[in-house]
Amino acid sequence: MREALIPLLQLSDSPRIVNVSSSGGLKNVSNEWATAILSDAENLTQEKVDEILSQYLKDYKEGSLETKGWPAYFSACTLSKAAMNAYTRILAKKYSGFCINCVCPGFVKTDRYKL
Ligand SMILES: NC(=O)c1ccc[n+]([C@@H]2O[C@H](COP(=O)([O-])OP(=O)(O)OC[C@H]3O[C@@H](n4cnc5c(N)ncnc54)[C@H](OP(=O)(O)O)[C@@H]3O)[C@@H](O)[C@H]2O)c1
Repeated sequence: MREALIPLLQLSDSPRIVNVSSSGGLKNVSNEWATAILSDAENLTQEKVDEILSQYLKDYKEGSLETKGWPAYFSACTLSKAAMNAYTRILAKKYSGFCINCVCPGFVKTDRYKL
């Protein structure tokens, strides 16, 4: 999406990207190695985020999520949001003339969440 839309956004005098995320992203990532990397905004890179997701998928396939300290509840959702939050930071740094943020809609009744 970014690859496709950034050239168009560059034509705007007020370019903006809002990623729909969740406040449950980073705060629910219990793996200390991943948390340390994702919290270090200054040194975040796409490669580091990819490495975390690859390790998560490997541990998932091996059935070792719990022993490796990954979240047990809403696990994939939590990791995907944490990764998107990190990616948003990387993007915001790279395109400093853009307004780039994440938003959490809060806990709301939708098609996905039948509260
Ligand atoms: N609800 C909450 O409490 C809550 C809390 C925190 C974060 N969020 C986040 O808020 C976002 C929306 O969640 P929601 O609860 O509103 O879910 P939802 O009711 O299931 O809505 C998801 C929307 O995404 C669209 N969609 C899904 N896959 C798509 C695709 N491949 N291409 C284009 N559109 C696609 C769906 O379109 P169709 O209807 O056509 O399938 C639907 O309109 C998600 O990112 C979710 O993680 C929600």
